[in-house]
Amino acid sequence: MDVPVSKIACRATIIHCLDDPGIDPGSPNMQVIEDGLLVINDGLIESVGPAEVIQPTLEPSVPIKNYREQIIVPGFIDTHVHYPQTDMIASYGEQLLDWLERYTYPTETRFENPDYAREVARFFVAEMQKNGTTTAAAFATTHPGSVDAIFSEAEDAGMRLIAGKVLMDRNCPENLQDTADSGFEDSHALIKKWHNRGRLNYALTPRFAPTSSARQLELTGQLASEFPDVYIQTHLAENRKEIEWVAELFPGHRSYLDVYRHFGLTRKRSIFGHCIYIDDDDRKLLHDTGSAVAFCPTSNLFLGSGMFDLDAASQSGVQVGLGSDVGAGTSFSMLKTMAEAYKVLQLLHQPLPAYRALYLATLGGARALDLDDKVGNLLPGKDADFVVLDTRSTSLIERRTRDAQDLHSKLFALIMLGDERTISATYCFGKQVHGD
Ligand code: GUN
Ligand code: ZN
Repeated sequence: MDVPVSKIACRATIIHCLDDPGIDPGSPNMQVIEDGLLVINDGLIESVGPAEVIQPTLEPSVPIKNYREQIIVPGFIDTHVHYPQTDMIASYGEQLLDWLERYTYPTETRFENPDYAREVARFFVAEMQKNGTTTAAAFATTHPGSVDAIFSEAEDAGMRLIAGKVLMDRNCPENLQDTADSGFEDSHALIKKWHNRGRLNYALTPRFAPTSSARQLELTGQLASEFPDVYIQTHLAENRKEIEWVAELFPGHRSYLDVYRHFGLTRKRSIFGHCIYIDDDDRKLLHDTGSAVAFCPTSNLFLGSGMFDLDAASQSGVQVGLGSDVGAGTSFSMLKTMAEAYKVLQLLHQPLPAYRALYLATLGGARALDLDDKVGNLLPGKDADFVVLDTRSTSLIERRTRDAQDLHSKLFALIMLGDERTISATYCFGKQVHGD
């Protein structure tokens, strides 16, 4: 029988989540296959299971890549990242509002130059793929050209990307401001151009409430109702001074989240970054409206913002994904992001086993982005987005994982000690985009 050239199989240990495993490392919501085979056909996953079961069913001409001693997991999902902040990552010393003024706005001003935007976008997409991230929700800048740049690069690289033009018409440098009307027009045109094109989706992107007038938020709500399947991404309750500022700018609201609700911005496909200082009423509103949260631990530590309460979020039923939040976040690596999530939660005395960390970075992120019918685990029919983790990627990881008692312990050590060197291959839609 003829086999399409795009059909391949990969042999490795395979770990993925069928549902949230919670804190039980033995959860039946995990599929853990010590010697597994993943079969990919035409960009999609055709089958997954023990090699001894799957291999006899394969046509003999299907090439099998041998990743034995390595671990295949689903491609990572970064639910909150700023690609224009790549060149200012790790800028010293400030908390959120001063950090925005001192570093972020000057850097984002450079995106008026489309050549610069294109060059940063290319680097950013390559960096994501090197780190095993195959899906991301990214902020651009106020410049429409910055959106074209990141979508073009993601499209060329086969990456799944949600992105949008930042809307901000006040309380930031004038040369970065749009107006309520121009922001509306530009977003409308960008939705028409990019939304639902291949693996790309558009996100209405008001930066955060303080930099948008009521009129701009109102028009954003109008676009949201005109295009019910576009995404909405913004920041919420990251920093105490930010919250005080929102209360001054939008008096009379029960909470910061209530401002967004008022303008019709809380719904399925709304993703709120941070959500550190929210209460149970806010959590209920997030859950009831189908909104999701991006937990960004490296950023929350770096800017001294605070600790995200994952248990409270989980109890409310709201979907939570992980975000790198580069450039307030200090790493593109979702392994490092998982490791820092573990440490933040340790401070709150909340456990985060490796399988739950993996869930947040894969299926949890996919659910937060309403993409779990396409990505997030390795079930047949899903996009073949996956990562190969190398247990020999550094001498320390090799030494530490050699004697690991079980696969959960091995994965935990890989998460704690891993970085981009640990990603030996990345596949996007069945195509290898990184690694030998
Ligand atoms: N709040 C508003 N803008 C930003 C941003 O660029 N990064 C972070 N971390 N928080 C924000
Ligand atoms: Zn952010």
